Amino acid sequence: MIEKITVPLGNRSYQILIGADILGTLGSQLGEIGFPRRVAVISNDLVSGLYGKAVCDSLLAAGFNPLEINLPDGEQYKNLQTLEQIYDELIRHNFDRGSGLIALGGGVIGDMVGFAAATFLRGVPFVQVPTTLLAQVDSSVGGKTAVNHPLGKNLIGAFYQPKLVLIDVATLNTLELREVNAGLAEVIKYGVIRDQEFFSWLEANASALQNRQFAALITAVKRSCQIKADIVEVDEKEGSIRAFLNFGHTFGHAIESLAGYGEWKHGEAIAVGMIVAAKISASRGLCRSEDVARLTALLKSLELPIELPDYPLEDYVAAMQRDKKVKQGTLTLVLNRGIGSVQLVKVPDISTIFSSILTP
Ligand code: NAD
Ligand code: GLY
Repeated sequence: MIEKITVPLGNRSYQILIGADILGTLGSQLGEIGFPRRVAVISNDLVSGLYGKAVCDSLLAAGFNPLEINLPDGEQYKNLQTLEQIYDELIRHNFDRGSGLIALGGGVIGDMVGFAAATFLRGVPFVQVPTTLLAQVDSSVGGKTAVNHPLGKNLIGAFYQPKLVLIDVATLNTLELREVNAGLAEVIKYGVIRDQEFFSWLEANASALQNRQFAALITAVKRSCQIKADIVEVDEKEGSIRAFLNFGHTFGHAIESLAGYGEWKHGEAIAVGMIVAAKISASRGLCRSEDVARLTALLKSLELPIELPDYPLEDYVAAMQRDKKVKQGTLTLVLNRGIGSVQLVKVPDISTIFSSILTP
């Protein structure tokens, strides 16, 4: 059975298909939406070694003409140089406006392929086939695409929506447990920002998710994607409530940038960032200390880090100042009201608010 969610964006609307062992339906699904027959399946050696054949067999059986392009694996390659490799291959193989791209992999591949699709020949269609939990619940949905610049993460990019997202939770069987846990941090984020009942469900089903029980994974992925779709429908370009999705990200990004990209998994840094945000919320009376304790316990039960790494306050503040979320020196923080709802709070003095949490 395939679960379906629509991201409603007028004539750019698309479906998210979710199921177990559904990779082999990709060709027929793309046929149904009239996707171009000439396609590039863009991945890396690891993911394409695991799933490239199933994807290409399915495409060939449905009459598509796939070219496989493999990029180097890792956040450190999410840059303009790697993007150029994609353009080189597409141009060498005479890809034109009547062709399309397929992103097969985690968030790194998805973000790069999305940006390549947005820019190659001023835009060709693309689809997301996310194979990490983080990509399935977050990065493949909503159309944020980007590459990193040496001075900051995701600084060069575009909003560009895919034509389809196909999520096969069975691909998570080959994912390292640490990556699964990191993806679960983003799933927990959805509970905190939008759905108290879902948060309680996660508390009850944490081990089923870690053990990759498909029914539990499908429930978690579906609810996460629905929440994201609802938010993107209202605010595609992050003028207002899409910022809710950044809960825990201000501190999380600061940790990632101070530790050096790749040291911490994105979801691990977000886990600590969410605790910091919740502590600030508690200090302002927006949530209770019991809410912070619940969040901390759930993250801990998933073996996610809960302690802030020991960098000087000035370094944290400097890292946060460089964040895309800072406008004219003012940071907009996402703070939780209890569990299940959040609000935006403007913070002119990052140093003061953060020092109250860092100092015991
Ligand atoms: P990733 O893409 O680096 O994948 C993690 C590792 O898992 C890689 O080595 C990858 O090759 C491997 N892998 C992927 N699928 C696998 C599978 N099924 N089995 C075994 N190994 C597999 O990391 P990620 O956590 O998926 O994505 C992180 C990226 O996503 C960051 O660059 C972040 O900026 C971006 N992101 C984007 C958005 C967005 O809205 N666009 C949101 C959140 C994060
Ligand atoms: N991951 C945050 C967003 O898509 O807006």
